[in-house]
Amino acid sequence: MNNFFHTETFDLIIFGGTGDLAVRKLLPALYHLDGNGRIDRKSRIIALSQRELSQDEYLAFVLDGLKQHLPRHRFDKEQWHCFSEKLHFRYLDAATERGWDCLKTLAGEHPCRIRVFYLAVAPDLYGTICSGLSRTGVINGRSRIALEKPVGSGLASAQLLNNQVGNVFLEERIFRIDHYLGKETVQNLLALRFANSLFEPLWRGHYIDHVQITVAEDIGIGTRGRFYDTTGALRDMVQNHLLQLLCLVAMETPVSLHQDEIRNEKLKVLAALKPIAGNTAKSSTVTGQYLSGAVAGKVVPSYQEDLDATAKSRTETFVALKVELDNWRWAGVPFYLRTGKRMSEKRSEIVVQFAPVPHLIFPSDEYPAPNYLVIRLEPDEGVKLVLMTKQPGSDGFHLHPLPLNLSFTRTDYPDAYERLLMDIIQGNPALFMRRDEVEMAWSWIDNIIDGWSRAKMKPEKYNAGTWGPAGSDVLIGRDQRAWYH
Ligand code: BG6
Repeated sequence: MNNFFHTETFDLIIFGGTGDLAVRKLLPALYHLDGNGRIDRKSRIIALSQRELSQDEYLAFVLDGLKQHLPRHRFDKEQWHCFSEKLHFRYLDAATERGWDCLKTLAGEHPCRIRVFYLAVAPDLYGTICSGLSRTGVINGRSRIALEKPVGSGLASAQLLNNQVGNVFLEERIFRIDHYLGKETVQNLLALRFANSLFEPLWRGHYIDHVQITVAEDIGIGTRGRFYDTTGALRDMVQNHLLQLLCLVAMETPVSLHQDEIRNEKLKVLAALKPIAGNTAKSSTVTGQYLSGAVAGKVVPSYQEDLDATAKSRTETFVALKVELDNWRWAGVPFYLRTGKRMSEKRSEIVVQFAPVPHLIFPSDEYPAPNYLVIRLEPDEGVKLVLMTKQPGSDGFHLHPLPLNLSFTRTDYPDAYERLLMDIIQGNPALFMRRDEVEMAWSWIDNIIDGWSRAKMKPEKYNAGTWGPAGSDVLIGRDQRAWYH
């Protein structure tokens, strides 16, 4: 995790080298890493795609993409020159025999190098690609494979994919990516919880009233309509990002930072999730779908219009859930989760609401608001602890809440993909999802989807640019609580 760590020479082979993920995330991250001297001069980034481009056409394509997607850095011609020398484009059609020989030749040039196969393609190609890699004999003793989420769309398909990949790669060589685990504040959550003794005694049901996890996005579905409409917010965001955040908040202290210790503790949290099944799916969850509205002063179309389909879609673009854990630490403490597209603003945060004081010694109209801790992932990464204080200079006890702010906002942190790419290259799987975690999360999600379909639940409409459907406030309001806005 050190920025100036020396990295061994490697070959990174990207399947889907002209795809959205490669252009928006992977190549900008690699360009930035290269600029920071993290990529050895002889390393190669081998981009594979079914598009028939020449090397020059590919470089022009990447250059264009970098200029669009490098928000934090001005484009630098000299750096581009160095970076472009590491880029090698090859045609490969994973579903046929075409292109595999070429990959074999490239791999054969450096048989002993660290070799990372990054599958930035639709999951239904994972199996085909893995058999292609095995058949072609390009997997060496230092090979790793990186898979993007979603690994499956339910337990059965996740098991199938995991078997297909597992037939070719050992589990410790499989890096399942959830990019939220690479975010700075998510890592800081571990530091906050396990490097401070202050919170540990309070981090339990007696002292915590409830926890809220919000991942709100202001964007719509963009050009991903086809994927999104068969996926929805629960599978796209909750199964992975939100559950991973919940695990990090709720898990017990791991014995060490060793790769499996953290993952073992996360798995226990997933095992403790109270099933939301049958009728509970209706009472403990709310789904929504955006209508047109205004986001940041701009009028935006509805989901149905974004989808550009005639048939009415029932896919949820918003979901809120009340989640409970069946274990000693968290029994009776609800976790309220919500995520949605086209909401008022992009904001991801965890709010830990502490219990009120047990006995009030202040005048009742000076009721001290309970303390709360906000762990903010986006925007303005940081941590805020809100304490009650006496209003300075006031007669008597006029109380008011004051935040203790820790801001981590800086522009020079590696972004999530930079950190995760380096971890894959260095062979450190701690921040990646293990097979059992993914499958346990799916089995919990499958129950909810089954409950929704039995109850024939339809998403409630909400206007774009709001905090979701009214039902979301009702869900939390039923427990005399409210979302933090
Ligand atoms: C992805 C989802 O995993 O995360 C997208 O598929 C979502 O739908 C994205 O937009 C959000 O990531 P971030 O880092 O922008 O919060």
